Amino acid sequence: MIIAANLKMNLKRKDLQHYKETLQTQLSLLNSVDAVIFPNMACLLDSSYFQDIPLTQGAQNAYPAKNGAYTGEIGSEILEELGIRTILIGHSERRELGDNQEFCLAKFTYYQELGFRIFYCIGEPLHIRKKGLSAVMDFLQTQISGIDLHYPSLVIAYEPIWAIGATQPASIEEISATHLNLKNLFRNINPTRDIPLLYGGSVKADNAREISQINGVDGMLIGSGALNPQNFLHIIKETLE
Ligand code: PGA
Repeated sequence: MIIAANLKMNLKRKDLQHYKETLQTQLSLLNSVDAVIFPNMACLLDSSYFQDIPLTQGAQNAYPAKNGAYTGEIGSEILEELGIRTILIGHSERRELGDNQEFCLAKFTYYQELGFRIFYCIGEPLHIRKKGLSAVMDFLQTQISGIDLHYPSLVIAYEPIWAIGATQPASIEEISATHLNLKNLFRNINPTRDIPLLYGGSVKADNAREISQINGVDGMLIGSGALNPQNFLHIIKETLE
């Protein structure tokens, strides 16, 4: 299972220190999954900071260039200096801020070239979900368009936009049907690799077990449910039971 925490624009450096100390108390639990954390961009730490715990640090976003005149952006040179080789691309909150498919693709291609592990997010808005599964699949295909599904360090996160930061995740049936359809789609394009597929959207300790047991769910991308390190550990525990 891949259990990833997307901290978004939350938690200060001081909080991350506490986060790490809390995780340190449960190393065997952490060791039993592939745990990843995406801290706020201004709080990215040198990866050596996490070297004594089995936790990978990733970037929530980055510009598709080494460095240069891109005000407010972060490039691969700085990420590599920090030892960061994992990146989230295409999160719906980034797409909302203007990352269109072309830009997501440019980021994907650039970071693929550098060999980064890429967590690539897809997810439909509510009005598409209301049209049914086949409309959802058509929409998700447009977000996958151009993405190299043969890339061995690719992880895909399915996050229905309407379930992010909501009171409820998507239903078990919705997650199950969408994941199975996505898995079939991926398999048709690349039969040689079972591309890890995460679910994201209102995952919490009290629903993590049920979601993690759905066929086709290889892990979870968690926002608010992982802001508290105890909850993050609790979610990991639930997925193991
Ligand atoms: P949420 O966010 O868990 O707060 O719904 C998930 C995400 O946006 O990755």
